[in-house]
Amino acid sequence: MKIGILTSGGDCPGLNAVIRGFAKYVYNQIPKAEIIGISDGYGGLINGEAHTLKESDFSGILNVGGTILGTSRQPYKLMTQEDQNGQSKLDLMKKNYKKLGLDLLVTLGGAGTHKTAALLSQNGCNVIGLPKTIDNDIWGTDVTFGFHTAVDIDTECIDRIHTTAASHGRTMLVEIMGNKVGWLTLYAGIAGGADIILLPEFPFDPDDVVKTVRKRIDNGKAFNIIAIAEGAITKAESKMKKQEKLEKRGGDVTLTSALARYIEKEAGVETRTVVPGHLQRGGNPSPYDRLLSTEMGSFAGKLVEEGKFGTTVAVVNNKITSNYLIDIAGKTKYIPKDHQMIGVARSIGISFGDGEKYEKN
Ligand code: F6P
Repeated sequence: MKIGILTSGGDCPGLNAVIRGFAKYVYNQIPKAEIIGISDGYGGLINGEAHTLKESDFSGILNVGGTILGTSRQPYKLMTQEDQNGQSKLDLMKKNYKKLGLDLLVTLGGAGTHKTAALLSQNGCNVIGLPKTIDNDIWGTDVTFGFHTAVDIDTECIDRIHTTAASHGRTMLVEIMGNKVGWLTLYAGIAGGADIILLPEFPFDPDDVVKTVRKRIDNGKAFNIIAIAEGAITKAESKMKKQEKLEKRGGDVTLTSALARYIEKEAGVETRTVVPGHLQRGGNPSPYDRLLSTEMGSFAGKLVEEGKFGTTVAVVNNKITSNYLIDIAGKTKYIPKDHQMIGVARSIGISFGDGEKYEKN
């Protein structure tokens, strides 16, 4: 059996641990299986860049960040567009799947990767997916690998910001990755003891934020920590089209820096911003992610053995399971308004800048 494997989309800690868990299952449980590493995500499948891997290639990578296979972003919307020869990227991937003699393809990636995996599966390829992303936004799984390592990194970042914010009596905004969803900001914000958490799912009012900042200062707390998601939006922006939103923000000014200026002016407090950026995706996976990755990789091996193709690995209520790619592709797991951690946060006085109060039930 010839198994192709690729990692696609943004990298994160845990990719190598999953690759290793999968490969070790295959070498230990499936006789005569061969693993072909496809370079740089779907880009490698489009261009036919692949090489046979040996068992020893999977050693010593459990705790190593990044991906030994390389990765790239290949937008889903371009997959079926034809070039001047009338060939689409999907056609090329199908062609190379056959040319490489693959019996199946294992894809490690986020939401976009899963959409393309579903497309390949609908087009005659045997595909098994694995849910990677620090955003934790893949539909149908409680958790994705990489997420908890990023929570650890961001929590440490907020911890460090706390001491300097307290020393100077400043308001500090920590901008956390997550363009459409705020899981990482919510979890790291609560774990790091942020006073205000701003999420894409909960449009906020800048004046509400200023009010909360002032209130804390008036109550004798000189500093404020605000965890703001990269994709947070104001209530006013939530009614605007993308272009109008960008123009109102003033070109390349991020919402984080615009809000910092607004707070400084309106609340009269020194305000600084911190953007950990890609530090959140670098370095070793945490022990939690190594466990999850190993479990998910091993489970994907089991799916291969059972011939359960067109699926992706998931964790539901602490149990490892699988979903059909077709059922989850194109869906996003947003934070629901009534998520228990939202309730927990509101109950201890964390503000989401949306003017809403904790509701006892
Ligand atoms: O999807 C993971 C993610 O880290 C997002 O949180 C972030 O918005 C994006 O990738 C950044 O992408 P890039 O690495 O292409 O800058």
